[in-house]
Amino acid sequence: MNKEFPILNKNIIYFDNAATTLKPKSVINAINDYYENYSANSHRGDYNIAFKVDDEIDLARETIKNFINARRKEEIIFTSGATESLNMIVFGFFENILKDDDEVILSKSEHASNILPWYILSLKKKIKLKFIPLNEENKITIPNLLKTITNKTKVISLAHITNVIGDIRNIDEIIKIAHSNNIYTVVDASQSVPHIKTNVKEMDTDFLVFSGHKMCGPTGIGVLYGKYELLLRMMPFKFGGGMNESFNEEKLVLENIPYRFEAGTQNISGIIGLRHAVEYLNNIGLDEINRHETYLRNYLIRRLKEIPYVKIYNEFSESSIVLINVDDILSGELGLYLNSKNICVRSGVHCAKMLKEESHFENTVRISLYFYNTYEEIDELINALKNKNELYNFLK
Ligand SMILES: Cc1ncc(COP(=O)(O)O)c(C=O)c1O
Repeated sequence: MNKEFPILNKNIIYFDNAATTLKPKSVINAINDYYENYSANSHRGDYNIAFKVDDEIDLARETIKNFINARRKEEIIFTSGATESLNMIVFGFFENILKDDDEVILSKSEHASNILPWYILSLKKKIKLKFIPLNEENKITIPNLLKTITNKTKVISLAHITNVIGDIRNIDEIIKIAHSNNIYTVVDASQSVPHIKTNVKEMDTDFLVFSGHKMCGPTGIGVLYGKYELLLRMMPFKFGGGMNESFNEEKLVLENIPYRFEAGTQNISGIIGLRHAVEYLNNIGLDEINRHETYLRNYLIRRLKEIPYVKIYNEFSESSIVLINVDDILSGELGLYLNSKNICVRSGVHCAKMLKEESHFENTVRISLYFYNTYEEIDELINALKNKNELYNFLK
């Protein structure tokens, strides 16, 4: 792996994969290749390197369509990331269709990007945000979802895997329940698309979003998936070049889907890099990735349990995210101690600032694994945590 991920040669142990993942050489090479060999703009040139850019974007769209099993490639819209995708869905689609007193169902363990756009919409329109109560493991349950749905519910917007608790939601069942009640669904797949096989056709969600950088791709590129018939009813969120077919003082005619949602010069190197990231993951296989991560997670939990002063907060979550603290040590300080051992983790509330209202804990150290992590790296983490003298000396 070290050969394929250049940053791993820098002698670091990287356990912050829920924040962003490392980039393999094939992705870095593809980005460099664009800048070195054909760095033209898209849709605008009449020359070979510009044609190549259009072909590359087309190929990327097709590759991502197949990766998540969308029906058509027009359903794949390139955005700057999950955050932009969610904002586009909330303000481009739901702002136009939600009416007074309509209800939107979320949970308090959502990332800020899946709460704040809805919150801002609730300030602009008379809609109500409702949160599914979490159980004692900080998970949502189907009975609690059913209790939250009313005849005013119009949207359920949830992460497939949450970025703090790391629980994997029964998203197929949730979507079935939603649709049988005429409720739209939005799936924040930022933490799931990189780790488990995603099939939007089977899942049948109306919208789904994810970011490239959490799946070995570049930063600043992400995807908004929407069912074609819904995208026909969505308004662009940005206006400018590339998204219009014609305009004059009286009239704007929008470009076809997906281009009407991709105003301005695109993140071309990001799109190309994302295609190579998807191919990289496909070559390993999502099932294989998931299998390895499950082994690693189980091993990590087993080893953490050897240390009496380590508290694990989400032992019964299913993904490769593990939350811990050490007895009377602030999570930020524990993070800095691990950094002194070249171990990268994240401490804090991890962008889910409403979670503390239900979870009864606030700041934690998050260890989030990906397929390139190893048992040996986990052993090093455990050794660092077991070294209580050094840990307390570091804090003095
Ligand atoms: C569950 C979840 N949703 C949304 C986001 C936002 O992703 P981005 O910052 O790439 O837009 C993140 C990032 O941490 C996330 O974990």
